[in-house]
Amino acid sequence: MNRKLSSILVTGGAGFIGVNFIRHLFERAGFDGRIVNLDAVTYAGNPASLADLSAGYKRHYDFVRGDICDRGTVEKVFEDYQIDTLVHFAAESHVDRSILGPEAFVRTNVMGTFTLLDVARMKWKGRDDVLFHHISTDEVFGSLGETGYFHEATPYDPRSPYSASKASSDHLVRAYHHTYGLPITLSNCSNNYGPYQFPEKLIPLMIQNMLEGKALPVYGDGRNIRDWLYVEDHASAIWTILGRAESGSSYNVGGENEWENLRLLEKLMEVVAAKSGKSLDAIRGSITYVKDRPGHDRRYAINCDAIKRDLGWRQALTFDEGLERTVDWYLSNQAWVDSIRSGEYQKWIDMNYAAR
Ligand SMILES: NC(=O)c1ccc[n+]([C@@H]2O[C@H](COP(=O)([O-])OP(=O)(O)OC[C@H]3O[C@@H](n4cnc5c(N)ncnc54)[C@H](O)[C@@H]3O)[C@@H](O)[C@H]2O)c1
Repeated sequence: MNRKLSSILVTGGAGFIGVNFIRHLFERAGFDGRIVNLDAVTYAGNPASLADLSAGYKRHYDFVRGDICDRGTVEKVFEDYQIDTLVHFAAESHVDRSILGPEAFVRTNVMGTFTLLDVARMKWKGRDDVLFHHISTDEVFGSLGETGYFHEATPYDPRSPYSASKASSDHLVRAYHHTYGLPITLSNCSNNYGPYQFPEKLIPLMIQNMLEGKALPVYGDGRNIRDWLYVEDHASAIWTILGRAESGSSYNVGGENEWENLRLLEKLMEVVAAKSGKSLDAIRGSITYVKDRPGHDRRYAINCDAIKRDLGWRQALTFDEGLERTVDWYLSNQAWVDSIRSGEYQKWIDMNYAAR
């Protein structure tokens, strides 16, 4: 299958993976259609991450500040831009925040996904040349022991409010396919890392704290295991799925790159020390063990043989290369970090991107 994509609605395209995905399409994949980026600009979103791009691709890129839960806004975007493809990233995405305040997760991740699906169903009635792609997480599968992998057919067993909200949205996406025939694809990926990630997630948080001489907080015994996927590899996987996957199919996407948190931190400390000139011993001395996250899943590991076999996708970077690029990016983009963490940033967003 080779699907023609011409007017793509990207939701959450001002967030970490969305920014990298939009850049991938224009800068590497040679996409020459239109992208409309619909994003509410929560604390995690920063449309300025694409400011240089929107200048270069003026005719191909539009930003709309709006909430995916607002049906009127979503309908208007579908009408104004004749959308034929929807790539759905928008979400509340941080597990710790979901433990402190689950309601926003149910609202955006469940109700927001429902709203998008329902508008797509009404606007695309009967069409089979359209596609709704939903981005989900491997966390919907639960926690693994020492061995084994998540496969596409692994039963769902979400443990946190975040993963439960993502699991609900996955079920809705599949239900809209089976019930209404909506053309959909779905991907479940492991932990992403790379440029433009909000510095609350493990890798950018640790890089920033190392650069700023702050404590490096490690949950529990630091032995939890995660698979790490470079964000550009994730972007290329989604692009591959959009172009070639059968409607109704789901793919796991991973880095095949499992690391215990403490071992990952050791590696990261070496890269940051070497590139920043900071003392490795001083950085090591900043490790601080903190109370474990409630319900902290022990191990996630993903089998992504299916996307390799069926669609010919491959990861392009080794973990060493990905980490080096990530640390280089944060070292050169401290102004971006300062702005996304500052109250000034939110004021600027409110002035420049009025909501519809
Ligand atoms: N980051 C990861 O490692 C990872 C791993 C697996 C799956 N995912 C999934 O990938 C997607 C993107 O993750 P991310 O890390 O880029 O997240 P992020 O938190 O960096 O970005 C989320 C974006 O969604 C926007 N948003 C939030 N609520 C919205 C709403 N109601 N309406 C419109 N926009 C809204 C935010 O402003 C932000 O720009 C999410 O669906 C997440 O569940 C992420």
